[in-house]
Amino acid sequence: MNISEIVPGVRYVGVNDRTTTRFEALWPLPAGVSYNAYLVVGSEHIALIDTVEERFGGRLIENIRREIGNRPIDYLVINHMEPDHSSSIEALRLRYPNIRIVSNAKALQMVSGFYGITADTLEVKEGDTLDLGGLTLTFAMAPMVHWPETMVTWCPERQTLFSGDAFGTFGALDGGITDSHLDPNRYWEEMRRYYASIVGKYGSPVQKALAKVRTLAPATICPTHGPVWQHQVAQVLDLYDRLSRYEGEKGVVIAYGSMYGNTEQMAERIARHIAAEGAGPIVVHNLTYTDPSFVLRDIFHYDTLILGGPTYNGSLFPPVAQLADMLAARCIPRRKFAFFGSFCWAGAAVRWLDEFAGRMKWQPLGDPVELKQGFSEDADAACRRLAHDVATSLQNE
Ligand code: FEO
Repeated sequence: MNISEIVPGVRYVGVNDRTTTRFEALWPLPAGVSYNAYLVVGSEHIALIDTVEERFGGRLIENIRREIGNRPIDYLVINHMEPDHSSSIEALRLRYPNIRIVSNAKALQMVSGFYGITADTLEVKEGDTLDLGGLTLTFAMAPMVHWPETMVTWCPERQTLFSGDAFGTFGALDGGITDSHLDPNRYWEEMRRYYASIVGKYGSPVQKALAKVRTLAPATICPTHGPVWQHQVAQVLDLYDRLSRYEGEKGVVIAYGSMYGNTEQMAERIARHIAAEGAGPIVVHNLTYTDPSFVLRDIFHYDTLILGGPTYNGSLFPPVAQLADMLAARCIPRRKFAFFGSFCWAGAAVRWLDEFAGRMKWQPLGDPVELKQGFSEDADAACRRLAHDVATSLQNE
């Protein structure tokens, strides 16, 4: 069985990367990542859709040769120019000197800007088609999913969508390629983390792209990262819809920083009191030790956030402030929000978090807890009151 043939005429030629430790030099890759590329083989022409990160260019060409031998590739369709997909273009042109680069005007400007390539290009616009013989490709623009030049490519004869970063996940492909040849359950959390880290700022453009995708009603979705979706298409569309509407499920994330354990005690007590009231699910993250991508993932997942930290240099403890900045950068329009903080001689953390709630236009839930110096029974009582307000809010959903 050739499992690299996704549907007749569409072959997977992507690669796994299990050595890069941080995607975009930012986001950890504990289970690696795949850079997906696809051949569409018509009776007259062959198109390659996207390439891979340049260190894996040789492997991409090997995979292509395994599929089509020495036949030439006529077209390289570029859906997205971020270098994890485009940086093998030069290697590919050395191997296939007559290949023609097909993309929209914005992407072709980037091809010139990144790689100095201006010849042998074909500009396409919304709705244009490319006839490969028996199979056609149609192009639809999807700006800001994830860059302004992004587009998707549709093969109507196979009801197959080449979706770029949309519907992608972190995590290398363990053997299988489609969701019927590997365990898709391993990828849902990594899809959330990928979305929250990479695409999370662009909810409105994702909604516009989703409307186009729903009109097409794809049977197969071929993203640039992670599994090819065939059996779980409805679940994938539903998850993207909820993520891009910033719609959290019922649950609470408690994210905190702590230097000497007093603020940590507040986080632990708030979590325990919420659990004691039978509310949840509850996820707790110490921001000094948990990479922000995992915290962002959970904040995109759940509808309630409790943030806390000590005062540091007359401001909020840096790891907590960094997470808050990341939330602001993602323009999350609503979360049920509560907060707590501590100080030794002059409080600033709680004030900082209050101002943050104002900037985000989030209505705070309950009374913030502010601790001076060591954790105490009084502080525990205040944590219990805050936890009660959060638990009541969760239980009333
Ligand atoms: Fe996988 Fe936006 O690149």
